[in-house]
Amino acid sequence: MDTKVLSTGVRYTSLPQSYIRPESERPRLSEISDCEDVPIIDLGIADRSKIVKQIGDACKSFGFFQVINHGVSPEAVKKMLDVAIEFFSLPVEEKLKLYSDDPSKTVRLSTSFNVKKEKVHNWRDYLRLHCYPLDKYVPEWPSNPPTFKEIVSNYCMEVRELGYRLQELIAESLGVEKDSIKNILGEQGQHMAVNYYPPCPEPELTYGLPGHTDPNALTILLQDLHVAGLQVLIDGKWLAVNPHPNAFVINLGDQLQALSNGIYRSVWHRATVNSEKPRLSVASFLCPCDDALISAPTALTEDGSAAVYRGFTYAEYYKKFWSRDLEKEHCLELFKN
Ligand code: OGA
Ligand code: NI
Repeated sequence: MDTKVLSTGVRYTSLPQSYIRPESERPRLSEISDCEDVPIIDLGIADRSKIVKQIGDACKSFGFFQVINHGVSPEAVKKMLDVAIEFFSLPVEEKLKLYSDDPSKTVRLSTSFNVKKEKVHNWRDYLRLHCYPLDKYVPEWPSNPPTFKEIVSNYCMEVRELGYRLQELIAESLGVEKDSIKNILGEQGQHMAVNYYPPCPEPELTYGLPGHTDPNALTILLQDLHVAGLQVLIDGKWLAVNPHPNAFVINLGDQLQALSNGIYRSVWHRATVNSEKPRLSVASFLCPCDDALISAPTALTEDGSAAVYRGFTYAEYYKKFWSRDLEKEHCLELFKN
């Protein structure tokens, strides 16, 4: 391949060898059915206890759900998607100025997942940004498109508010004090991955992102309304989560699985690709602060249930996560008591 990224504007006619999965690991796209049971939770209703109950049920059985009337304005969402498309439509030389395969960089354009560590590549380019505190990171962000910084900062602020609200609701649903999750997570970091999955010549042979759980606390995913690709693993079966108008997909990350003492699940999910249309998604990750000590609140263990995981700092966890290949065993398994 002659460039480092896929989004060059030139369509591939065949899948390069380095993207081809062995037969047993392929997505088997024709066997995937739609995920129909996952709740679309309306955060705009007055009955808070109903919302808490729906969230608790969803976190327990699936580890993810969708939300509507979530308070992030439709304009902020539309502008975010438009500027993301505009970014990936820039000439490749312009984008490559931001290229890096070093996961510790706070702004970078990259491709696949962890190019230096993985054996097989994934059909994705992504722009990864640190987003909190904004005044620290925005100066490093792309200045092309010229509206990028303003639009994305605004989107980040609105999404952060939603994230806090969800963490309170999740805490309540666990029966612990509403601020307890936020308190444990400390001053939370916020990262964004703007994912761009170009049309793929042989989508049956590869992934946009292979199955993984997110290493952070909570992920707020905005999916392209017109192109499906997200799938979640439920009861051993991969199911498609089709985009829903004005909704975000919320998934619990590994840290909330740990904090809930394993009662809630960090869901396995993946992104598949298609041969027709590019797909875009914007994942916002809320992350514990580096020295946050992650362990379940005592209220969840005092009834005699043992702590499932040993305490660890987020810094320790994150280092372990990026040192592995993505689709291995759940990274939390390495922290079990
Ligand atoms: C991610 C992710 C899914 C998608 O960025 O962690 O899971 O649909 N993205 O792009
Ligand atoms: Ni993910």
